[in-house]
Parts: sequence; C-alpha cells; structure tokens
Amino acid sequence: MELNRQIAEEALKEASKSNPGAWTNHSRYVAEACKNIALRCKNISAEQAYIYGLLHDIGRYAGISSEKHLIDGYRYCMERGWEKAAQICISHAFMIQDIDTSIGTFDVSEEDYLFMKEFVANAVYDDYDRLVQLCDSLAMPTGFCLLEKRFVDVTIRYGVHPATIDRWKKILEIKEMFEKQIGCSVYELLPDVAENSLR
Ligand SMILES: [Fe+2]
Repeated sequence: MELNRQIAEEALKEASKSNPGAWTNHSRYVAEACKNIALRCKNISAEQAYIYGLLHDIGRYAGISSEKHLIDGYRYCMERGWEKAAQICISHAFMIQDIDTSIGTFDVSEEDYLFMKEFVANAVYDDYDRLVQLCDSLAMPTGFCLLEKRFVDVTIRYGVHPATIDRWKKILEIKEMFEKQIGCSVYELLPDVAENSLR
C-alpha cells in the first residue's frame, strides 16, 4: 500500500479508536511542526515529513505500553511496506544511537529487545529521523511548546535517567542544525507556541 497523507491520517484515526488518548493529538502537532519546518528546508519533502510525524507513535494502537510502542509501530509500518516510517517509529526515541539511553522500560521479549538494540545501533539517520526527534519535543497534546517545557513534562512522567541530559543536549543540537538551514528560529514556524507554553 503506497503511503500518502490520506492513508496516514486514516491509520492514525483507526489507531486512536483502538487506544484513545492524548497521544493522537500530540502526533498531529508533531506532524504539523515537521511540515512547517520541512517547508523551509531544501532537501526534504514537507509532505513526507508530515506523514512521518503523524505515524511516529502509531504503535500505540496496540494499547498502553512503554518502549513496546516503538516496535509495535515498526511492525505496523513494515507490514504495510512503509520502511522509512517504520524506522522512525523506533528512531524517534533514540536521538542517541544507543539502546541504553532509553528513558522507558522494555516491556518486550528478549528477542525484540535484541532486535531493537541492533536496529538502533545500525540505523542510518537522515533529516527525517532528526526532524521527528526534534518535533516530538516541540509538541504537547494541546499544541506547540518550548522544548524545555516538553523536556520537563516528559521527565516528570518518565523520571530522571542517566541519559536525560545528553538526550536534551542532542535535541538542542538538532534544533540548531535545522535553524541553520531555515534561517530562523523553529519557534517562528509554530503557531501559538508562546500561548501554549504559558499554559
Ligand atoms: Fe511522540
């Protein structure tokens, strides 16, 4: 099945029926942020970026889980032949390519854990992976926000981990990398970011 915007939107709608939650609105804002930033980049498609943002957490269709949602999303996309989207279902959680930098728990089989460990170590990231990693930290379920607001939100929910600060630093680095390309602050491309960050 060829992946396009309509199919991705349909997939997210279906997934939200099987596991309703704030994650679907978060995914929509991530997609919107990806699109807005990609529109200003030379070498990436805004349409593709939007689709990858929309699908990055699609593994949550399977129910409430921790890192299991990454491999569930990977399989969901691979079954449909959406290889890059599948990669991003895992890569968005590993801005550092080391399984030990996870902040979640591996509620998966030993076999799946080893698969993810290898996958993360060997994946070749491009700007789509990096854009979703960045935008995942720019979107709450209620709208766009400052990275720092999302960092604190996630840390309160997931706890402080040995890799927490290095993960933040990596996202800040990715932000700077995109800002060099787009020639402005990413926040200028996110409607109502100030209002939402003050909530
Ligand atoms: Fe996300």
